[in-house]
Amino acid sequence: MSGIPHDHYEPKTGAERWLHRRLPIVSLIYDTLMIPTPKNLNWWWIWGIVLAFCLALQIVTGIVLVMHYTPHVDMAFASVEHIMRNVNGGAVLRYLHANGASLFFFAVYVHIFRGLFYGSYKAPREVTWIIGMLIYLAMMATAFMGYVLPWGQMSFWGATVITGLFGAIPGVGPSIQTWLLGGPAVDNPTLNRFFSLHYLLPFIIAALVVVHIWAFHTTGNNNPTGIDVRRGSKEEAEKDTLPFWPYFVIKDLFALAVILVVFFAIVGFMPNYLGHPDNYTEANPLVTPPHIVPEWYFLPFYAILRAFTADVWVVQLVSFLSFGIIDAKFFGVLAMFGAILVLALVPWLDTSRVRSGRYRPQFKWWFGLLVIDFVILTWVGAQPPEGIYPYISLAGAAYWFAYFLIILPLLGVTEKADPMPATIEQDFNEHYRAKAHPAE
Ligand code: HEM
Repeated sequence: MSGIPHDHYEPKTGAERWLHRRLPIVSLIYDTLMIPTPKNLNWWWIWGIVLAFCLALQIVTGIVLVMHYTPHVDMAFASVEHIMRNVNGGAVLRYLHANGASLFFFAVYVHIFRGLFYGSYKAPREVTWIIGMLIYLAMMATAFMGYVLPWGQMSFWGATVITGLFGAIPGVGPSIQTWLLGGPAVDNPTLNRFFSLHYLLPFIIAALVVVHIWAFHTTGNNNPTGIDVRRGSKEEAEKDTLPFWPYFVIKDLFALAVILVVFFAIVGFMPNYLGHPDNYTEANPLVTPPHIVPEWYFLPFYAILRAFTADVWVVQLVSFLSFGIIDAKFFGVLAMFGAILVLALVPWLDTSRVRSGRYRPQFKWWFGLLVIDFVILTWVGAQPPEGIYPYISLAGAAYWFAYFLIILPLLGVTEKADPMPATIEQDFNEHYRAKAHPAE
């Protein structure tokens, strides 16, 4: 596929030509910054920059935290207290890092749902999407292992529950679990390897982000209409796009500043709001907390994990057909990973030829329900697994799978799309020109 026609970097002085022939780095930076970007991008497109900021924030604050942290079961908890009480700016640093993880996940969820609504996962952006999913998985692994490091009660029991999931795999499960833990239970070897990987993974995420950006720079950004930028001539392409610098950089930075006002207010005034009080008690293998709850960003998938108990008929049927190999626990594990897998496969599950949800009258409703479903799953994931809650989890899990495996494939065949603008330029003029010059 040919790229969007636009100006490229031309070295002008002798020194520039000298460097360009040896290392075209200025050209790479110039072309990245000046990349033609659809000019109708709305505010849902700012979250990528917020994510990049979060990654940088986590790496910088993390590296300084490590200077004062000790990865040993006898000292980890005390070293975190030391950071909070004795290290200059230590409490701020820790709160930035802990709440930074929450902002990171909030941003990634908005970013993912933006992609789901505007069909950003569809051809030709499947690779951008898959790299995004790899980033998301790496983020989950990083956050999970990071939460173990302060060695509080929830660190310990969270690690016990989640590594126990691997133990539910028939046959090889217990060996995998022992291998992950570095022994028969969560202990010092577990803390050490989690620390090592927690430090390593953000750099792998950074590398994946470079590939992610490379991928969507190759295809060009999607936009709220889902219509492609015209590629016939430079003049046409220029009517649909604006260079990334300065237009989108300034817009993104403005949005980031607004979001950071809220973020710093949380870090400054309610830094423990999203945390669990049990994690201020040192890990104790002899005392199990009454409710083991993960951080909020894992709750939707935690709810799906717990939804499939032994009294659900699908579980009983599958257990019967598999001669008991797939029991309720393993079914839950499969459902949890399956819920992420269907998200990764959405480029091939959505059969509609219309890219943007804006022009899909029925899709809009089902998508709205998916967002509500996700919020409900997050809420119910934090409730105890008794009374009505398991039923709500089950209904939420069922809708999640139905959306990806039944509704999206069928809608593509049955739905009739609304009329669409012919070009990005036309959409831009209708939306923004009319507001800017009402008299015209
Ligand atoms: C560290 C995490 C991530 C970073 C830093 C990041 C960064 C970006 C940036 C800067 C963009 C450009 C447009 C925008 O700002 O929306 C983008 C686009 C995109 N991202 Fe991400 N992203 C991350 C994670 C993800 C994840 C988890 C997914 C989904 C699985 C994803 C899917 C996409 C898609 C499909 C696009 C192209 C969308 C378009 O142009 O409309 N990203 N990303």
